[in-house]
Amino acid sequence: MEPIRILDDILARAADEIGAADDVASLDEAITKLVGRDSPVGDVRRGMGALDPGLRPVVGAKLNEVSTEVDRLVGERRRRLELEETNRRLETEAIDVTLPEVYRRIGSLHLIQQTIDEISAIFSGLGFGIADGPEAELGWYNFDALNTPPTHPARLESDTMYLDYGDPLDEMLLRTQTSPVQARWMESHEPPVHIIVPGKCYRTDAIDGSHLPVFHQVEGLAVDTDITFADLKGTLAHFAREFFGPDTAARFRPAFFPFTEPSAELDVSCFNCDGGEPDCRVCRGAGWLEMLGCGMVDPDVFRAVGYDPDEVTGWAFGMGVERMAMVRHGIDDIRNFILNDTRFLVQFP
Ligand code: DAH
Repeated sequence: MEPIRILDDILARAADEIGAADDVASLDEAITKLVGRDSPVGDVRRGMGALDPGLRPVVGAKLNEVSTEVDRLVGERRRRLELEETNRRLETEAIDVTLPEVYRRIGSLHLIQQTIDEISAIFSGLGFGIADGPEAELGWYNFDALNTPPTHPARLESDTMYLDYGDPLDEMLLRTQTSPVQARWMESHEPPVHIIVPGKCYRTDAIDGSHLPVFHQVEGLAVDTDITFADLKGTLAHFAREFFGPDTAARFRPAFFPFTEPSAELDVSCFNCDGGEPDCRVCRGAGWLEMLGCGMVDPDVFRAVGYDPDEVTGWAFGMGVERMAMVRHGIDDIRNFILNDTRFLVQFP
């Protein structure tokens, strides 16, 4: 029974010795030591021929059992070691494929354009069309057709940039307002008219915190057979609520413009405070914000463009786009719009 005892002894040690191998090389060593040619199992195999024939099948079966068990244990251990090896390599040889992002700034529309688009969208929603006209304009459209006589101080060279100054009949200037498009449009279209006119305007203003020689306005004009001041108030109050928020109140103050009668200035309630808080950064305690000029189109303007003031009535308004954007966003210096300082611009993506 000596061989059986040897083989049982191997069976008993196999799990521990194989389990102790902590790499492929020591696993091979353990195999050699347990079942290799020079191991006790090798001796038993070689001695089979000399065994008592009655004992041979018993020892043979035990040999099989040993080699099957050792194969199983070795296979298990090998898979385990391979897995550990793979994990170790994954960890130590991992390549960091992440890189700092390539930071590319995406541009956006200028705040003035965004503001024009927003104003246009509100009036488009009311059915207004969008018109435009030349920036190099005739004195006739910029002034005369708008009931502004040659003697009006706004027509002085000190106020208006002339391209050709002197003869009121064909003097060419950079338009000081978008209002001339009122006259141009009516001259070439039959009533009813519902248009807004966004665009650039020019004046000889020196640059400071609230003036630029080039700025933007949006003109509005509605003409039909029965347009009233109530239409003007309702439309502009709606605009104010859309642009500044639903709780915005509107107030009209009497004013004067040559091309409207009566004329008014529109104030809107401060959207930033509950009305007249002394240190409100937007209204500075006034509670109201001056917004735009407006009024009922003067009959003289209708006559100048060939409309019959006994047939039609209308209202008009003109607002400064820079002012709208400044009030709305709390911008305190108009020069921000032209400095191209990206620290300013990126705040309005
Ligand atoms: N054009 C005027 C300006 O530049 C603004 C204005 C006031 C336009 C009243 C209008 C209006 O159409 O009715 O100051």
